[in-house]
Amino acid sequence: RIPEPCALVIFGVTGDLSRKKLIPALYDLANRGLLPPGFVVLGFARRDWGDEDFADLARNAAQAHARTPWRDEVWDRLSSNIKFVPGSFDDDEAFDRLAQTLDELRASHGIEGNAAFYLSIPPSAFPVVLKQLERTGMSDNQKSGGWRRVVVEKPFGNDLQSAKQLNDLVDHAFTPGDVFRIDHYLGKETVQNILALRFANTLFEPVWNSLYVDSVQITMAEDVGIGTRAAFYDTVGTTRDVVQNHLLQLLSLVTMEEPTGFSADEIRTEKLKVLRAIKLPADIARDTVRGQYQPGWVAGERVPGYLDEKGVPADSTTETYVALTLGIQNRRWAGIPFYIRAGKRLPRRVTEIAVLFKKAPHLPFAPSDVEMLGANQFVIRVQPDEGITLKFGSKVPGTTMEVRDITMDVQYGEAFTEASPEAYERLILDVLLGDKTLFPDAAEVEAGWKVVDPLEEAWTGTKPEPYRAGEWGPRAADEMLVRTGRAWRRA
Ligand code: BG6
Repeated sequence: RIPEPCALVIFGVTGDLSRKKLIPALYDLANRGLLPPGFVVLGFARRDWGDEDFADLARNAAQAHARTPWRDEVWDRLSSNIKFVPGSFDDDEAFDRLAQTLDELRASHGIEGNAAFYLSIPPSAFPVVLKQLERTGMSDNQKSGGWRRVVVEKPFGNDLQSAKQLNDLVDHAFTPGDVFRIDHYLGKETVQNILALRFANTLFEPVWNSLYVDSVQITMAEDVGIGTRAAFYDTVGTTRDVVQNHLLQLLSLVTMEEPTGFSADEIRTEKLKVLRAIKLPADIARDTVRGQYQPGWVAGERVPGYLDEKGVPADSTTETYVALTLGIQNRRWAGIPFYIRAGKRLPRRVTEIAVLFKKAPHLPFAPSDVEMLGANQFVIRVQPDEGITLKFGSKVPGTTMEVRDITMDVQYGEAFTEASPEAYERLILDVLLGDKTLFPDAAEVEAGWKVVDPLEEAWTGTKPEPYRAGEWGPRAADEMLVRTGRAWRRA
């Protein structure tokens, strides 16, 4: 499907996200022929720029980060519809000019008043921008004569209370149905495939419960540090940055019941049920671990510790690693531990979901024949090397009955000829189409904070455990599993 003619207004257009993800995704969409004729990109920022300057930035961004091959004719078509409105967020006149520009596009580009506003800006700037959009009537569907949507980037608040305030603010400026909250993990192909795997097959669902599953491990490891984001990261930490959103979303997709259909509402109903059933450990100090990276080596390169990163206060107690033991209070998952870990400066970048099964209740083999046999594992590799691995025991060829684990691997790159679109490509397209299936709603965001707030509270005044950059987190995270007779999978 191709969206109706419309404009995409980007606030914070010179920022990292816009240059690395949004603009390249627009080029890729154009290259795949998925943008409507007359589609307009409108940049807004505090720069003394004209349309040409913004088009130059956009071209560089697209050339550096687009996924699809470069084609001049695609760029020429897109760039002829790139516009820029200079101004700061508290400048009424600039917003009046923006409103007027959108009005003019109605006739010149046939956009019929359709526009989406992408807030790629710090949360502290949300209130002023939302108020401006409201004041000028730009957020009003009726006044515009078309549709008006808003896209809000995370972090969506810093805790439950601030998230509620933001939700109120944005739902007040726009119609709640027109608010798109981005969690880019939901735009990833491998994440969307979780529901397909579970509910399009008969193979997995019968064993997808506490009778057969021993535990689930969700890992989001990054080899990078915090880069130039100290000012943001130090006030947030790993739990707020990626657990509250990405990892709880993964957890909900892995554990939710079958939705009655694939509409946004039907999926959300089931996700919310499990998000609300998440159980925190009774002893948070024992069953959660916060870590902070020290200097070390990653991929053969010496890297500084977190406290030595530019902009991080020397006495910061912000975590760059977290490991949690969670439960889900419902019949399907009662008693099953969900181990979640995320961190920066770990040995390599890998995000995966591993479902670890119970061992066979009885093994009719000589003990020496099954020494090398572990438990069955079903692993969804979210990234990189997107794919699925199934681990199970098999007879080793030869004259004995020795049984050993082997793996069966499916790689996206081999199974499909179609290339996976980038998450932002899919999500921007869905915004323009008005499809909210892949966007968490206010209730999901709030449910996420209800999990995170008590943890943050319990951690107040505690120090994170050190771990050397390039290692798999603090030792306490290993001990957390060893105490229960388990170990982290070698991701
Ligand atoms: C973002 C976090 O949401 O996700 C970053 O703010 C993190 O800290 C990033 O690096 C990871 O995204 P991806 O798609 O590379 O796994």
